[in-house]
Amino acid sequence: MEVLDGNKVATEIKNEIAESVKRNLKLNKRPPHLAAILVGKNGASETYVAAKVKACEKVGFVSSLIRYEENISEEKLLKKIEEINFDDKIDGLIVQLPLPKHINEIKVTQSINPSKDVDGFHPLNLGKMQLNLPTYISATPAGIIELLKRYNIKTSGKHCVVVGRSNIVGLPISILMGKNNEIGNCTVTLTHSRTKNLKHITNQADILIVALGKAEFIDKSMIKEGVCIIDVGITRVKSNKTKSGWKLLGDVNFNSVKESCSYITPVPGGVGPMTIAMLLQNTLKSANKEVY
Ligand code: GUN
Repeated sequence: MEVLDGNKVATEIKNEIAESVKRNLKLNKRPPHLAAILVGKNGASETYVAAKVKACEKVGFVSSLIRYEENISEEKLLKKIEEINFDDKIDGLIVQLPLPKHINEIKVTQSINPSKDVDGFHPLNLGKMQLNLPTYISATPAGIIELLKRYNIKTSGKHCVVVGRSNIVGLPISILMGKNNEIGNCTVTLTHSRTKNLKHITNQADILIVALGKAEFIDKSMIKEGVCIIDVGITRVKSNKTKSGWKLLGDVNFNSVKESCSYITPVPGGVGPMTIAMLLQNTLKSANKEVY
């Protein structure tokens, strides 16, 4: 079994991005600028956004973190997005999800200028992804594809089973893995909460992508010998073995499957760091006007 080291690959990508920023600075171009909007005090969102801001600093990007209280009105949020849409000094805008219940996430996503939508959540960018047109592919699916590419994993003709159909991960990665691309050409099965005989299906996977959000859901009995496992889940659970009092668990029981799979992404240190690297890559693309 080989561990797919997301930390290592993400560091490589971030170094490439930092070099590109330096080259642009020498040409008197300003550094890329990412704006992130964070509403409320969701612990996981706080952690993710802090990691994104820190990653910006590391590669030489400018970042702006805009925070609002939980009770901000939808109108006020939309107004801020509109302001950023017209700000020539900002290349990328993300609004961290989930948003409080009184705010319509789809409306917010659609209000972001597609040319600054470095999360790739806008319907226009999702449509472009389907048609293989230049666009921003959302960071987690893009990170999975890049990790498979850099480890030279062959996907053509393989059976890829995706567990979970979220708009952010399950649905887009199921489309990408079926496309006629270097990483793709799989026969894809998208499974979800209403799927019958899930274990029977996961047992047929050559590539198993799990994005369900249920800690250690997949064990040895659910996989085939030699499968490549991509674990997208991150669940924070209490632990008396760590300094912080918390530990992170994936959707896959690592110890149960480790002897049976060919490749696996660890949690933490697998898909998570790749997601951040791909967000930076999308922001660089926007600054370089490579998409719009
Ligand atoms: N919430 C969970 N993942 C993401 C992400 O990739 N982008 C945003 N904006 N919110 C998220």
